[in-house]
Order: sequence, then C-alpha cells, then structure tokens
Amino acid sequence: MSTVLVTGGNGYIGSHTVIELDKSGYDVVIADNLANSKMEVQNRLEKICGKRFRFYNVDCCDIDAMRKVFNENKIDSVIHFAGLKAVGESVRIPLDYYQNNIDSMITVARLMAEYNVRNLVFSSSATVYGMSEDVPFTEESPLGVCTNPYGWTKWMLEQILRDYAKANPDVRVCLLRYFNPVGAHESGLIGEDPRGIPNNLFPYISKVAGGTLECLTVFGDDYPTRDGTCIRDYIHVCDLAQGHVKAIDYLCRTDESVSVFNLGTGDGTTVKEAIAAFEKACGHEIKHVFGPRRAGDIAVSFAKTDKAEKILGFKAKYDINDMCSSCWKWQTMNPKGLED
Ligand code: WQD
Repeated sequence: MSTVLVTGGNGYIGSHTVIELDKSGYDVVIADNLANSKMEVQNRLEKICGKRFRFYNVDCCDIDAMRKVFNENKIDSVIHFAGLKAVGESVRIPLDYYQNNIDSMITVARLMAEYNVRNLVFSSSATVYGMSEDVPFTEESPLGVCTNPYGWTKWMLEQILRDYAKANPDVRVCLLRYFNPVGAHESGLIGEDPRGIPNNLFPYISKVAGGTLECLTVFGDDYPTRDGTCIRDYIHVCDLAQGHVKAIDYLCRTDESVSVFNLGTGDGTTVKEAIAAFEKACGHEIKHVFGPRRAGDIAVSFAKTDKAEKILGFKAKYDINDMCSSCWKWQTMNPKGLED
C-alpha cells in the first residue's frame, strides 16, 4: 500500500484530503503542529474513516522531529499543507510568514531527499496570479504581483520547488493552485474552524447565519461585475480533496518533473449570489451591510479547469448550493467550532 505523509493534515483542507486518500486506498500519516487546528479533528476522522491515523504533533520547521516521522514510516509521497495562511495576518507579521512557510517546505524537501521520497504535492494558491484581470486564469497565465506576504510565500515556494526539481531529476512535484475552498464533509463532523473572527467570506456568512456573529459587511458593491460585488471561484473542499488524490495518482505514473494545475470549478459566483445561496441553505436571511472595498481584493477570479480535467481526470462535482448546505450542516452541528 502506498503511504502518503500529509503535513498540516489536521487542518481544514488537510483533514478532508486524509478522508479521500483513505477512501482511495492510500495509507496516511499526519504531521501537524496544531497551530491552527484542534486535536478533536483526529477523533472526528476516526469516526468518519473507522480508523485512527498515525499522528505526529510536530512542527515541519523542526528537522529532528520531522526526521522521526520519516524514520518511522516508509513514505512514498508527501502532500505539504502545513503553513500559515491568513492573508491579513501575513501583512501584520510578514517575517513569521516568510520564515515559517518557506522554512517548513525546505525542511520537508530536505528530508524527502534524504529518504529518497520522490513525489511532492504542494498546496499553492490562485493568489499567485496577483492582481491580473486576465480571467479565467489558466496555468499559463503569468504569475502576478502578489498583494500580501502569504501570497508571496506561495509564489516563492513554487520557484524554490522548480529549482529543487531541476537539481533532483528523480523528484516529481505537483503545484496545485486552489481557488476558494469552502464547505464541509457531508457528515458535518469536520469543517472550516478558524480561530477568532473569520477573514474569509464563507466562514463569516456561516457564523452570521448561526447567530454567533451579528452582521456581514460586504466589502464593496461598486466593482465592474454583474451585480457590483466580487466574483470568485468557490470550490467544495471535498472536490479539492479529491483533486489531491488525483494529483498523487498522477505523480505515481508521470515522468513530468514539475506539473501545475488549477483546482477550481470554472464558475464564478458574486458575493451577493453567495449570500442568496446560503440564505436558501439555512432558510433565513443573512444580515449584511455594504462597506468599502477591502485592500488587495480583485474584482474577478475564476479558473480555467481544462488542464486538470484532461490530465488528472479531475472535475469538481459539487455546486454552490452543495457548498452552502454542507457548510450550514457543519455550523449547526458545531456552533462554537471544535473543542480545543
Ligand atoms: C471572497 C470575497 C471579499 C469577507 C482568500 C485568499 C486566497 C485563498 C482563499 C488560501 C471577496 C468578500 C470577504 C467578508 C466580504 N486562501 N468578503 N466580506 O480573498 O478571494 O481569497 O481566501 O489559499 O489565497 O486570498 O477569499 O473569502 O476572503 O473573500 O465581502 O467579511 O468575499 O471582498 O470579494 P479571497 P475571501
């Protein structure tokens, strides 16, 4: 059985990916420092998958602690999710973001070389396209000027991994550029569980719908779009997780040194449309007001998805209504998120 090390596997996208890997017959090992997730996720994964995963509470920047993971498990592939990912926070503490996100990936790559682990899937982001207005974004779209340190760490790590692959011909790297992951597992047992006030739209809407936040502020309704609010390519987190399984499958069969894929639906949804879809899912109004634009936001972002469909055989199957209903189920079952 092929073993996949999932760093950051206790987090939102990581935990959903663990489920899909397990369903596809992969053996999974999780490494996570719990900086942005709670140990209760492991109990929920056991309920969903009917097994306890090997879990290491380690920081990916700690090479001695991480060497133990590689020593104790015969790892065939790595999916690297571990990293800080709050855009606003990255502007406030850029050195922490550059040090943590870049050091953790380099540490894992060094250990992969030491233990002859060839396959790496890297969690990148559509944010690397920067402020470009040339949508839909294809994998050949030029990388842009990122608007925050978080985005720059993804941009820089894509380059670091290209150089790493060039120097190590046996290595296979797959860069997955996520659009906007939202929603939750159908069980409602795991979902997006940000600490503090959510920065992102869906967790914020979800908490307003659940009554734990008072009112959503829509950041700008004067954009050049069909209803004046920003358009994004929201993708169900379970579709995104499936995309990672397809990427691991691909690395096991390809001789392509570095591959890049957008993971989106190819559809764009405005903020107003997202609010309406969530109101349909929860059955009541979502209180919201219109405020000024948020610095760094682009009007329109959505993916060209042909390449992932053609080469990975990946196509998102859930629509915005599925995303909203799964998010609402998670919210109602866990109104205060998971216990620490
Ligand atoms: C979506 C839309 C906001 C909150 C970010 C990261 C990206 C990726 C996904 C990691 C925008 C509007 C939001 C609110 C609002 N993360 N909004 N009121 O900015 O597209 O992408 O998350 O990879 O890297 O940049 O997502 O959910 O923050 O915003 O009106 O309270 O919702 O202006 O138009 P974004 P988002």
